[in-house]
Amino acid sequence: MKEKIDALLGEIKAAQAETEEQLEAYRLRFIGTKNVVKDLMQGMRDVAPDLRKEMGQSLNTLKNAAQDKFQELVGDVNRQKSADESHDHVDLTLPAAGTPLGGVHPIQAMEDQIIQIFSRMGFNVSDGPEIEDDWHNFTALNFPPNHPAREMQDTFFIERNPDMVLRTHTSNTQIRVMEGQKPPIRTICPGRVYRNETITARSHCFFHQVEGLYVDKGVSFKDLKDTLYHFAREMYGKNTKVRFRPSYFPFTEPSAEMDISCFICDQKGCNVCKYTGWVEILGSGMVDPNVLEACGIDPDVYSGFAFGMGIERQAMLKYQVNDLRLFSENDVRFLKQFQSL
Ligand code: PHE
Repeated sequence: MKEKIDALLGEIKAAQAETEEQLEAYRLRFIGTKNVVKDLMQGMRDVAPDLRKEMGQSLNTLKNAAQDKFQELVGDVNRQKSADESHDHVDLTLPAAGTPLGGVHPIQAMEDQIIQIFSRMGFNVSDGPEIEDDWHNFTALNFPPNHPAREMQDTFFIERNPDMVLRTHTSNTQIRVMEGQKPPIRTICPGRVYRNETITARSHCFFHQVEGLYVDKGVSFKDLKDTLYHFAREMYGKNTKVRFRPSYFPFTEPSAEMDISCFICDQKGCNVCKYTGWVEILGSGMVDPNVLEACGIDPDVYSGFAFGMGIERQAMLKYQVNDLRLFSENDVRFLKQFQSL
């Protein structure tokens, strides 16, 4: 019996299975209801009593070895099977699937373009906080306390007394630049701004702006017009015409809004320009002396101009998008159309 047990142990150790059939053959021989180990157990009756204990232990070892090996072979066969399956699905002759490419968001693309145009004219880029105190968003910009112009801005307040607000324009950054730097200052301030407006196709509770500031000795309204005229032609084409309309902002005096000739209908009249031939693109003006003074710049020595535009508005015009909400909904079908920007 001892030799038989040793022979079977050797057989178990050497056993291999790559297919279901081989596994089943092993199972029938060593695990099934009529397996060889059971056969040997039957033979225990004929073993001399003084050898029974030792034989019993050897048989147990054999039984465990048979079972352990079975588990191992099940694992081998399964692994083989899944490897076969995954190979079955690979057709090496097929062309490789393309890697989907991302794209720059149209608002970012527009912002980059605006920055490029102004940086070619010597403007640098400044950044400021979106959560702002009353001084930088209003007071330093010549909004007197309780002045109705504050209401015009539909402000989101985070705290009252002292007020902390979500900035309503990036003019806050211009104040911070003037407080921290000496003229000459030539900078543009891109960024996100917030206003408590109902969300519709034409307005949103947040949008993006680029504002600009030029402060030096002898800066005049002519410089303002030349700079913005150049911008309009770079952005909307060489034949773009501009016109300035008087306007009001607390922080500039005089103030003007700038229109460009409608590049969609070439001033023949269309939906975009509401049949006027002109579309408004930005606000501008000469920096009010009170603002310079609030920032520690002597208005008797220095003057400056400032301007501000909404990026969404420019993008809507340029790409003829008719719903502002599309820019913040992350709909890939919409964004894909700008992939080449
Ligand atoms: N801050 C103004 C706004 O958000 C835009 C502006 C900037 C107008 C600078 C004139 C000069 O409406």
